[in-house]
Amino acid sequence: MTSTETIERPATHVLPPLPYAENALEPTISANTIRIHYGKHHKKYVETLNKLVANTELAKLSLEQVISATAGKADKAQIFNNAAQAWNHSFYWKSLQPKGGGTPPAKLAKKIDASFGSLDACRKELASAATTQFGSGWAWLVLDGDTLKVVKTGNAETPLTKAQKPLLAIDVWEHAYYLDYQNRREDYTSGVLDKLINWSFAAENLG
Ligand SMILES: [Fe+2]
Repeated sequence: MTSTETIERPATHVLPPLPYAENALEPTISANTIRIHYGKHHKKYVETLNKLVANTELAKLSLEQVISATAGKADKAQIFNNAAQAWNHSFYWKSLQPKGGGTPPAKLAKKIDASFGSLDACRKELASAATTQFGSGWAWLVLDGDTLKVVKTGNAETPLTKAQKPLLAIDVWEHAYYLDYQNRREDYTSGVLDKLINWSFAAENLG
């Protein structure tokens, strides 16, 4: 090799480990769903992103920087979609936990009361966003300025590009629930909110 040759450095976005075992969210979400959702879909987003950015000016950027650099650019849509999906899924896994649900830590609970009136009202808004998102997408609890909001995004879109700070994510792509619930997205959503949602993670994100 001469000094003029370019050394190809592969991009190094990595699939983060699941924060729990594949079967840890049963019976609400089966190990089979997690195996495919995490092990196939999420993995593929990361692998595709690495292929797309290899040897481009985006290769040295962090995942968040790639999302920011490609958002809203039609000629970069494929890169944005895979980068945002890689980020959204890593965030979604942390938004769930075995024996989740219940009540948020005090600081977050106070903020929820101030923004929604009650935890139940917040839960209802999250359930509504998750079930009414038309087609593939996400339901989110975000911090927007000093207020908590529930928002929904289509396909790979993420609140990161809207200056909103994500606190929790619920994946409502069919691959998140179809093996377990078929068309009953509302049952998946209820199960997630009642049994799995990780309020402690949301409180950590509140800062
Ligand atoms: Fe997904």
